[in-house]
Amino acid sequence: MTFLEEIKRRRTFGIVSHPDAGKTTLTEKLLLFGGAIRVAGAVKNNKIKKGATSDFMEIERQRGISVATSVMGFEYSGYKVNILDTPGHQDFQEDTFRTLTAVDSVIIVIDAAKGVEPQTEKLMNVCRMRKTPVIVFVNKMDRPAQDPFTLMDEVENQLKIKVRPLSWPINNGPDFKGVYNIFNRSLKLFTPDIQEIQERIKFEDLSDPRLEDHIGSDAEVLREELELVEGIYPEFEQDEYLSGNLAPVFFGSALYNFGVQELLDSFVQIAPIPQPSTTEERVIDPKEEAFSGFVFKIHANIDPNHRSRIAFVKICSGRFERNKVYKNIRLGKTFRISSPTAFMASQKEVIDEAFPGDIIGVPDTGNLIIGDTLTEGEEIHFKGLPSFSPELFRFVENADPMKSKQLAKGVDQLMDEGVAQLFTSTFNGRKIIGTVGQLQFEVIQYRLEHEYNAKCRFEPLQMYKACWIESDDPKVLTEFKKRKYQKMAKDKLGRDVFMADSSFILQMAQDEFKSIRFHFTSEF
Ligand code: G4P
Repeated sequence: MTFLEEIKRRRTFGIVSHPDAGKTTLTEKLLLFGGAIRVAGAVKNNKIKKGATSDFMEIERQRGISVATSVMGFEYSGYKVNILDTPGHQDFQEDTFRTLTAVDSVIIVIDAAKGVEPQTEKLMNVCRMRKTPVIVFVNKMDRPAQDPFTLMDEVENQLKIKVRPLSWPINNGPDFKGVYNIFNRSLKLFTPDIQEIQERIKFEDLSDPRLEDHIGSDAEVLREELELVEGIYPEFEQDEYLSGNLAPVFFGSALYNFGVQELLDSFVQIAPIPQPSTTEERVIDPKEEAFSGFVFKIHANIDPNHRSRIAFVKICSGRFERNKVYKNIRLGKTFRISSPTAFMASQKEVIDEAFPGDIIGVPDTGNLIIGDTLTEGEEIHFKGLPSFSPELFRFVENADPMKSKQLAKGVDQLMDEGVAQLFTSTFNGRKIIGTVGQLQFEVIQYRLEHEYNAKCRFEPLQMYKACWIESDDPKVLTEFKKRKYQKMAKDKLGRDVFMADSSFILQMAQDEFKSIRFHFTSEF
């Protein structure tokens, strides 16, 4: 196969959802259809169950599992499908956001009874920002669901994207009969079986009276609804989908394998091939011959006996080859990767080559950090997703004076992994950790103790937002920093951050320093 053919057959995407909508179940069923696993239940979910926030053993166990299930590749109908899993727990949403920088498209799963939920909206905002094409899968049709037209409206209004159904449900809950596949004009009848994969019936012409034989009086309703669908929604245009303006919608029941194959078949046909990536210097086309890629995720110390880390590298261009010399642009150093791994379903295997769209696992001893660019030598820097201002802040203090080195190293490495954000007060040098949720503080404390043999204590800190500041007038910035010296800090990359105690204080600062722009994200 040529280099170009290898690129064109790749589909790299992420599945996201509000917790419990069915992301894990859908992922597993895609693997089942893709032949990557044989029976349902083979892939354990990597979510941290609600109520388990203090169960650290559970977190540890899940972390182990989540390495295996972070990226799952499989072959399907000549396509190489790469699924990137994202943590379901909202306290780890930054991790999800970063993973979204490595995908070419996204499938959003929503629960047919609950509709669009808060986490779905947040994730969609990130997709919109990056113009990532999205497909919506409305799950759990086997349960009592909202009316499909209402759901379509909700998706359109709340996710702020045009919608177009490509399959349509026939009833729901106990009366659920199946879905009609608008995309390839076939009917699939529902039989609630978790393992079995159903056959589909081709129905080019819906006025065919045999439709009644299959679904009885629901046939007439289906005809009417499909007529309405054609009247209300625009024709499906792949370009509109690829430019992130239109979301095709599918209905089904992941638990009962229903509508999943429709989704997968249409997905491989319409989803984008590996897309160009932006660097600070220029746009990189996947078809370029020189290899380039970036680190979007790091898993550290999975096995406490081995201080090993795995860096997940997304290949952006060129053919990646094992043992070839590549350069880490941040460090200005070259190195060889002797045992890169691919992630095929839940197994890791050492590979000799990989192509744009693929994710490889690179064993690392602490040289790589999130956002690192790897190339054959060209000095480029891939643009990642900015850091967002954390929601919760705590001072981190050393609780064991004998272990201050271990603490510093542990905090440093956990921040490299993207577990949380670190700010250092320029006023008194105290270290501040910012997170999205309480669970992250617990994870940090636990991991510092178990992996770095260090003890930390968190001290409360009432803080509203971390604001990255910018101005065209350097004098005003200097003046601002002087006036607010007690509230200034540096982020991990040494950028100035104003730590605002409250929205009121921030408003005051904004009113007073009109020529300063205050940002809640680190890139602007
Ligand atoms: P998540 O990753 O998005 O958090 O959701 P997950 O797949 O874990 O699904 C959440 C719950 O919803 C699970 O039940 C799962 O079995 C169920 N579920 C997923 N898809 C469907 C569907 O199409 N129909 C129905 N009826 N249920 C579905 P649970 O009881 O919380 O977990 P488990 O003990 O079954 O694993």
